[in-house]
Amino acid sequence: MGRVQDKVCLITGAALGMGREHALLLAEHGARLILTDLNVEAGEATTKGINDAGGDAIFIKHDASSEQDWQQVIKTGVEHFGKIDVLVNNAGVLTLKSIQDTTTEDWDFVQSINTRGVFYGVKYVLPAMQKAGGGSIINISSIYGIVGAPSASAYQASKGAVRLLSKSAAVEYAEYNVRVNSVHPGVIATNMTKDIMVDDASTDALLGSALIRRPAQPKEVSWGILFLASDESSYMTGSELVIDGGYTAT
Ligand SMILES: NC(=O)c1ccc[n+]([C@@H]2O[C@H](COP(=O)([O-])OP(=O)(O)OC[C@H]3O[C@@H](n4cnc5c(N)ncnc54)[C@H](O)[C@@H]3O)[C@@H](O)[C@H]2O)c1
Repeated sequence: MGRVQDKVCLITGAALGMGREHALLLAEHGARLILTDLNVEAGEATTKGINDAGGDAIFIKHDASSEQDWQQVIKTGVEHFGKIDVLVNNAGVLTLKSIQDTTTEDWDFVQSINTRGVFYGVKYVLPAMQKAGGGSIINISSIYGIVGAPSASAYQASKGAVRLLSKSAAVEYAEYNVRVNSVHPGVIATNMTKDIMVDDASTDALLGSALIRRPAQPKEVSWGILFLASDESSYMTGSELVIDGGYTAT
């Protein structure tokens, strides 16, 4: 038996980066997967890889900022698997600009995916989780939802919102046996950070106060997702799981 055997897990932004790695690890541990992303080619490739290895996954094209897309994703997922046990709200975007340079369009773009998209997921998955008798919602925030850094105001505001939205939902959904937690990765080696960490100096600068002086591999976050998706975390709700190499320890 896997640690999430036969749990139906919906992961957004699952084509690449951490979302992809979460999908691979959850599949290895017995989950059935609804994978979504804007990037159809990479999303279908990830899904095919899981199914070819004996897993059970479907891919749905999904713009996480779209309310209509969310309704369709939940409907299709429930029609296919009968229920949804776990939602990983992982899709996210980063803009790096000073507050002075951030336009209304920049601000709205980041909030539409990172904040409004997470809100839609939390809102629309509830009936499916009630049907499953409960569930686990895992919202991906960041260390940038806890501490400040230069030139990331729109992103930091969005990730701070995800942190508190998770606690609000934990309070509201406890009566439905739905647990809601946020995850706060530090500096992780994905497409999101590859253009920022171009040499030793820029990598060192991004690592900031991290005690472990290297970026993490995506899988080092996936182990936390597996724990929160599984019943091993049955007494955790409204919590923050920080996986940051000690970035926020000092
Ligand atoms: N990389 C880091 O250092 C880091 C640190 C802390 C938190 N995070 C957060 O972790 C999550 C995953 O980040 P990552 O580093 O894997 O990013 P990534 O850029 O490597 O992958 C993001 C995925 O989300 C998808 N996506 C983008 N916009 C979308 C939309 N509107 N609808 C659906 N899918 C969309 C992309 O196609 C891509 O597959 C994000 O929420 C990010 O903010 C990342």
